[in-house]
Amino acid sequence: MRQSVVLDSIHRSDYPKLIRLWEVSGNIEVRQTDTPEVLARFLYRNPTCSYAAYAGTRLIGAILAGHDVWRGHLYHMAVKPDYRERGIGTRLVNAAVSAIKSEDIQKIHCLVKRDNLIAQQFWEACSFEHLPAHSPS
Ligand SMILES: CC(C)(COP(=O)(O)OP(=O)(O)OC[C@H]1O[C@@H](n2cnc3c(N)ncnc32)[C@H](O)[C@@H]1OP(=O)(O)O)[C@@H](O)C(=O)NCCC(=O)NCCS
Repeated sequence: MRQSVVLDSIHRSDYPKLIRLWEVSGNIEVRQTDTPEVLARFLYRNPTCSYAAYAGTRLIGAILAGHDVWRGHLYHMAVKPDYRERGIGTRLVNAAVSAIKSEDIQKIHCLVKRDNLIAQQFWEACSFEHLPAHSPS
């Protein structure tokens, strides 16, 4: 029987696991600057909008989210391969979007690689509108 999956804030002790998740997810560019320290700074500045998905104590998905008062931004959306296509990504996006909107931010952006067709379908299914690069927003 599969464990139920719950959403929670990203536990500080899981930062290295989260970076590992990005590395194995594919289609997420993990840069040298994506370190536990930078993650801690991001979550310090944006404490309320990011979420992790946990199966028991195992981190199996996450979304980084924040805003600059003007726009909301979503980063590094990832679900562990063996937990995909079960609605967990959608739950994470909905939680992050609700948190951003509750801070009176209505426009939310995320960047998607042109060749990441699954992600494009995913964001469309989450009611995001595709804007070509360089279009005004
Ligand atoms: C994109 C990703 C986060 C989706 O997570 P997920 O938990 O599998 O997504 P969901 O189960 O909530 O899927 C929601 C919708 O997305 C679309 N979708 C998800 N996976 C899909 C796939 N493999 N093929 C086609 N459409 C897909 C479907 O429309 C789906 O709705 P449906 O279940 O009613 O058909 C996951 O595939 C992933 O981690 N990919 C690697 C990292 C990545 O590309 N991140 C995005 C960076 S912009």
